[in-house]
Amino acid sequence: MKGILLAGGYGTRLHPMTLAASKQLLPVYDKPMAYYPLSTLMLAGIRDVLIISSPADLPQFRRLLGDGRRLGMRFAFAEQPKPEGIAQAFLIGREWIAGEACALALGDNLIFADHLSVLLRAASARPQGATVFAYRVRDPERYGVVSFDDAGHAEEIIEKPAQPLSNWAVTGLYFYDRRVCDIAASIAPSPRGELEITDLNRVYLEEGSLHVERLGRGCAWLDAGTPDSLLSAATFVQTIQSRQGMLVGCPEEVAFRMGYIDRDALRQHAHDLGKTELGRVLADLAEGAHA
Ligand code: G1P
Repeated sequence: MKGILLAGGYGTRLHPMTLAASKQLLPVYDKPMAYYPLSTLMLAGIRDVLIISSPADLPQFRRLLGDGRRLGMRFAFAEQPKPEGIAQAFLIGREWIAGEACALALGDNLIFADHLSVLLRAASARPQGATVFAYRVRDPERYGVVSFDDAGHAEEIIEKPAQPLSNWAVTGLYFYDRRVCDIAASIAPSPRGELEITDLNRVYLEEGSLHVERLGRGCAWLDAGTPDSLLSAATFVQTIQSRQGMLVGCPEEVAFRMGYIDRDALRQHAHDLGKTELGRVLADLAEGAHA
């Protein structure tokens, strides 16, 4: 399975911070925001990732991530000339995806859960249909919202409904089978002129192949699209890391744990990070100080 990291948009809700910088490169505590969804894709076992961003911001992503070899990954890059909807990622990425199954992670979404890698592996192993993750929120009208029937099956999925039918928001992490590019090409732009990911998901829902995984209490899902949510995300990461001494959203750590890089490569990453706390934790991990 391949994966797309979508880091487009104007980030208008974060102006003036995003007037001259990509939203997805802003810091979330001690790492660039995009590291978190990238780590999620890597935890799913995905090693080919296409990073899509605006023509102005793409060079910065290349500079940050390179070709991926240092992480045992393969990164490719593509421009989204204008933000015309999340599902457009599958039109831009079509040639690169080359008929394989593909996941999509939004560059401003952070998911943290104890058993996340199990859920991710199950989603990436599913040969047919699509998998999305739903999370209970107080303000569902800000998101794609999925409602369920009495038997717990997904019933309807609506983008930013004025009157939400449930509190279950659809998170920005999606897994699709190999038909995804054809399906994306078949949907029409919404009234706001965007190819909506929710319309793509509805195609799968209507054919009965949308698997909705509900994330429970033990999970955190944060988006970082506003000053408040950016601060909450940073505080969350800081709290977990300083209390437990474990890392959240660190691609070097995930690469090591997944066996994409060896101990020497991890040692080198720790060295490159110099005197940072991140470097210290990675050095400990390389020396086997943490289980
Ligand atoms: C997008 C999707 C929405 C999803 C959300 C998750 O909204 O359109 O369905 O719930 O991401 O972050 P946006 O953040 O682009 O408004």
